[in-house]
Amino acid sequence: MWRFGLWDVQDVAVLLSIWLYVCHLAGAISVNSSQRNLVRSVQEDVFFSVDVTCSGVPTIRWTFMSGAVSRSIGTWQPGVFTNITVDYSTRVNSCDNGSMGLSDLRLQDSGYYVVTVEDPAGNSRDVGFVLKVNEVLYEDLQYLSVTALALMCVAGLLMLTSWLLHRACRRIKVWGRRQQMPENNATELQPL
Ligand SMILES: *[C@@H]1O[C@H](CO)[C@@H](O)[C@H](O)[C@H]1NC(C)=O
Ligand SMILES: *[C@@H]1O[C@H](CO)[C@@H](O)[C@H](O)[C@H]1NC(C)=O
Repeated sequence: MWRFGLWDVQDVAVLLSIWLYVCHLAGAISVNSSQRNLVRSVQEDVFFSVDVTCSGVPTIRWTFMSGAVSRSIGTWQPGVFTNITVDYSTRVNSCDNGSMGLSDLRLQDSGYYVVTVEDPAGNSRDVGFVLKVNEVLYEDLQYLSVTALALMCVAGLLMLTSWLLHRACRRIKVWGRRQQMPENNATELQPL
Protein backbone atom coordinates (compact mmCIF):
# COMPACT_ATOMS: atom_id res chain seq x y z
CA MET A 1 0.00 0.00 0.00
CA TRP A 2 2.89 2.35 0.88
CA ARG A 3 4.48 1.50 -2.49
CA PHE A 4 1.26 2.17 -4.37
CA GLY A 5 1.04 5.52 -2.64
CA LEU A 6 4.57 6.44 -3.80
CA TRP A 7 3.81 5.50 -7.41
CA ASP A 8 0.70 7.57 -7.24
CA VAL A 9 2.68 10.63 -6.19
CA GLN A 10 5.18 10.06 -9.04
CA ASP A 11 2.40 9.54 -11.59
CA VAL A 12 0.71 12.69 -10.52
CA ALA A 13 4.00 14.59 -10.76
CA VAL A 14 4.68 13.23 -14.28
CA LEU A 15 1.13 13.97 -15.42
CA LEU A 16 1.36 17.44 -13.92
CA SER A 17 4.63 18.20 -15.69
CA ILE A 18 3.25 16.89 -19.02
CA TRP A 19 0.15 19.03 -18.55
CA LEU A 20 2.28 22.08 -17.75
CA TYR A 21 4.44 21.42 -20.83
CA VAL A 22 1.36 21.15 -23.08
CA CYS A 23 0.01 24.37 -21.56
CA HIS A 24 3.34 26.05 -22.19
CA LEU A 25 3.29 24.88 -25.83
CA ALA A 26 -0.28 26.06 -26.26
CA GLY A 27 0.56 29.40 -24.73
CA ALA A 28 3.68 29.88 -26.86
CA ILE A 29 3.59 32.92 -29.09
CA SER A 30 5.61 32.88 -32.26
CA VAL A 31 6.40 35.97 -34.27
CA ASN A 32 8.17 35.25 -37.54
CA SER A 33 9.75 38.04 -39.51
CA SER A 34 12.11 37.81 -42.45
CA GLN A 35 13.69 41.26 -42.48
CA ARG A 36 14.20 43.54 -39.50
CA ASN A 37 16.48 46.21 -40.99
CA LEU A 38 14.77 48.33 -43.60
CA VAL A 39 15.98 51.30 -45.61
CA ARG A 40 13.59 53.47 -47.59
CA SER A 41 13.47 56.96 -49.12
CA VAL A 42 11.18 59.85 -48.26
CA GLN A 43 7.64 59.42 -49.69
CA GLU A 44 8.14 55.68 -50.22
CA ASP A 45 6.16 52.97 -48.41
CA VAL A 46 7.41 50.32 -46.00
CA PHE A 47 5.90 46.98 -45.00
CA PHE A 48 6.87 45.48 -41.64
CA SER A 49 6.13 41.84 -42.37
CA VAL A 50 5.47 39.48 -39.45
CA ASP A 51 3.46 36.31 -39.09
CA VAL A 52 2.00 35.93 -35.61
CA THR A 53 0.74 32.61 -34.26
CA CYS A 54 -0.58 32.04 -30.75
CA SER A 55 -3.49 30.30 -29.05
CA GLY A 56 -6.57 32.46 -29.20
CA VAL A 57 -6.88 35.89 -30.78
CA PRO A 58 -3.70 37.90 -30.24
CA THR A 59 -3.61 41.58 -29.39
CA ILE A 60 -1.10 43.32 -31.66
CA ARG A 61 0.44 46.59 -30.57
CA TRP A 62 2.91 48.63 -32.65
CA THR A 63 5.08 51.29 -31.02
CA PHE A 64 7.53 53.74 -32.55
CA MET A 65 10.72 54.70 -30.68
CA SER A 66 13.38 57.22 -31.58
CA GLY A 67 15.72 58.65 -28.99
CA ALA A 68 13.58 59.63 -26.03
CA VAL A 69 10.36 59.54 -28.09
CA SER A 70 8.02 56.58 -27.69
CA ARG A 71 4.75 56.78 -29.55
CA SER A 72 1.88 54.33 -29.92
CA ILE A 73 1.03 53.67 -33.56
CA GLY A 74 -1.92 51.36 -33.12
CA THR A 75 -3.45 48.35 -31.42
CA TRP A 76 -5.64 45.73 -33.02
CA GLN A 77 -7.15 42.31 -32.52
CA PRO A 78 -7.76 40.60 -35.88
CA GLY A 79 -11.49 40.52 -36.51
CA VAL A 80 -12.31 42.23 -33.22
CA PHE A 81 -11.14 45.87 -33.27
CA THR A 82 -8.56 48.16 -34.81
CA ASN A 83 -7.41 51.30 -33.06
CA ILE A 84 -4.87 53.38 -34.96
CA THR A 85 -3.47 56.56 -33.37
CA VAL A 86 -4.82 59.74 -35.03
CA ASP A 87 -1.37 60.85 -36.29
CA TYR A 88 -1.00 57.59 -38.22
CA SER A 89 -4.60 56.87 -39.22
CA THR A 90 -4.15 57.89 -42.87
CA ARG A 91 -0.79 56.14 -43.36
CA VAL A 92 -1.08 52.81 -41.53
CA ASN A 93 -2.38 49.57 -43.00
CA SER A 94 -2.97 46.91 -40.35
CA CYS A 95 -2.94 43.23 -41.33
CA ASP A 96 -4.51 40.26 -39.57
CA ASN A 97 -1.17 38.42 -39.40
CA GLY A 98 0.28 41.29 -37.36
CA SER A 99 2.09 42.96 -40.25
CA MET A 100 1.90 46.72 -40.65
CA GLY A 101 2.27 48.90 -43.73
CA LEU A 102 3.32 52.53 -43.39
CA SER A 103 3.00 54.79 -46.43
CA ASP A 104 4.28 58.23 -47.46
CA LEU A 105 7.42 58.03 -45.30
CA ARG A 106 8.99 61.14 -43.77
CA LEU A 107 12.48 61.70 -42.39
CA GLN A 108 11.06 61.66 -38.84
CA ASP A 109 9.84 58.07 -39.38
CA SER A 110 13.43 56.82 -38.95
CA GLY A 111 13.75 54.79 -35.76
CA TYR A 112 12.71 51.59 -34.01
CA TYR A 113 9.39 49.88 -34.51
CA VAL A 114 8.36 47.34 -31.90
CA VAL A 115 5.48 44.93 -32.25
CA THR A 116 4.12 43.49 -29.01
CA VAL A 117 1.97 40.40 -29.33
CA GLU A 118 -0.15 39.42 -26.34
CA ASP A 119 -2.26 36.28 -26.10
CA PRO A 120 -5.55 36.06 -24.15
CA ALA A 121 -3.71 34.50 -21.17
CA GLY A 122 -1.55 37.60 -20.82
CA ASN A 123 1.75 36.20 -22.21
CA SER A 124 3.51 38.58 -24.54
CA ARG A 125 6.41 38.81 -26.96
CA ASP A 126 8.19 41.78 -28.52
CA VAL A 127 9.94 41.95 -31.88
CA GLY A 128 11.81 45.05 -33.02
CA PHE A 129 12.50 46.53 -36.45
CA VAL A 130 14.88 49.29 -37.52
CA LEU A 131 13.80 51.70 -40.24
CA LYS A 132 16.05 54.26 -41.87
CA VAL A 133 14.44 56.89 -44.09
CA ASN A 134 16.81 58.65 -46.50
CA GLU A 135 16.43 62.04 -48.08
CA VAL A 136 16.15 62.10 -51.87
CA LEU A 137 19.01 64.55 -52.51
CA TYR A 138 19.51 63.82 -56.19
CA GLU A 139 15.89 64.48 -57.07
CA ASP A 140 15.94 67.67 -54.99
CA LEU A 141 18.92 68.97 -56.98
CA GLN A 142 17.26 68.01 -60.24
CA TYR A 143 14.11 69.82 -59.16
CA LEU A 144 16.10 72.93 -58.22
CA SER A 145 17.98 73.04 -61.52
CA VAL A 146 14.76 72.60 -63.51
CA THR A 147 13.17 75.42 -61.51
CA ALA A 148 16.20 77.68 -62.09
CA LEU A 149 16.11 76.93 -65.81
CA ALA A 150 12.40 77.70 -66.00
CA LEU A 151 12.90 81.00 -64.14
CA MET A 152 15.74 81.94 -66.51
CA CYS A 153 13.51 81.21 -69.52
CA VAL A 154 10.73 83.37 -68.07
CA ALA A 155 13.21 86.22 -67.37
CA GLY A 156 14.57 85.94 -70.94
CA LEU A 157 11.06 86.04 -72.40
CA LEU A 158 10.18 89.10 -70.30
CA MET A 159 13.33 90.91 -71.46
CA LEU A 160 12.62 90.07 -75.10
CA THR A 161 9.01 91.20 -74.77
CA SER A 162 9.94 94.50 -73.15
CA TRP A 163 12.58 95.13 -75.85
CA LEU A 164 10.05 94.40 -78.59
CA LEU A 165 7.45 96.64 -76.93
CA HIS A 166 10.01 99.41 -76.60
CA ARG A 167 10.87 99.15 -80.30
CA ALA A 168 7.21 99.01 -81.26
CA CYS A 169 6.54 102.14 -79.19
CA ARG A 170 9.34 104.02 -80.86
CA ARG A 171 8.12 102.99 -84.30
CA ILE A 172 4.57 104.03 -83.47
CA LYS A 173 5.84 107.42 -82.22
CA VAL A 174 7.92 107.95 -85.36
CA TRP A 175 5.00 106.89 -87.56
CA GLY A 176 2.66 109.16 -85.59
CA ARG A 177 4.99 112.15 -86.12
CA ARG A 178 5.24 111.37 -89.80
CA GLN A 179 1.43 111.24 -90.03
CA GLN A 180 1.07 114.51 -88.15
CA MET A 181 3.64 116.42 -90.18
CA PRO A 182 1.73 116.80 -93.46
CA GLU A 183 -1.46 117.59 -91.55
CA ASN A 184 0.33 120.31 -89.63
CA ASN A 185 1.69 121.66 -92.87
CA ALA A 186 -1.76 121.53 -94.34
CA THR A 187 -3.39 123.33 -91.41
CA GLU A 188 -0.61 125.85 -91.40
CA LEU A 189 -0.96 126.31 -95.11
CA GLN A 190 -4.74 126.47 -95.23
CA PRO A 191 -5.20 129.96 -93.72
CA LEU A 192 -2.68 131.40 -96.13
C1 LIG B 1 0.70 39.16 -43.86
O1 LIG B 1 -0.47 39.57 -44.57
C2 LIG B 1 -0.25 40.47 -45.62
C3 LIG B 1 -1.58 40.87 -46.23
O2 LIG B 1 -2.66 40.39 -45.55
C4 LIG B 1 0.66 39.85 -46.65
O3 LIG B 1 0.92 40.77 -47.69
C5 LIG B 1 1.98 39.44 -45.99
O4 LIG B 1 2.80 38.80 -46.93
C6 LIG B 1 1.72 38.54 -44.82
N1 LIG B 1 3.00 38.30 -44.15
C7 LIG B 1 3.45 37.10 -43.81
C8 LIG B 1 4.79 37.03 -43.21
O5 LIG B 1 2.77 36.10 -44.00
C1 LIG C 1 -7.32 53.86 -28.89
O1 LIG C 1 -5.98 54.07 -28.44
C2 LIG C 1 -5.80 55.27 -27.69
C3 LIG C 1 -4.34 55.38 -27.33
O2 LIG C 1 -3.53 54.57 -28.05
C4 LIG C 1 -6.67 55.25 -26.46
O3 LIG C 1 -6.52 56.47 -25.77
C5 LIG C 1 -8.12 55.06 -26.86
O4 LIG C 1 -8.91 54.93 -25.73
C6 LIG C 1 -8.27 53.81 -27.72
N1 LIG C 1 -9.65 53.72 -28.21
C7 LIG C 1 -10.33 52.59 -28.21
C8 LIG C 1 -11.71 52.67 -28.77
O5 LIG C 1 -9.86 51.55 -27.78
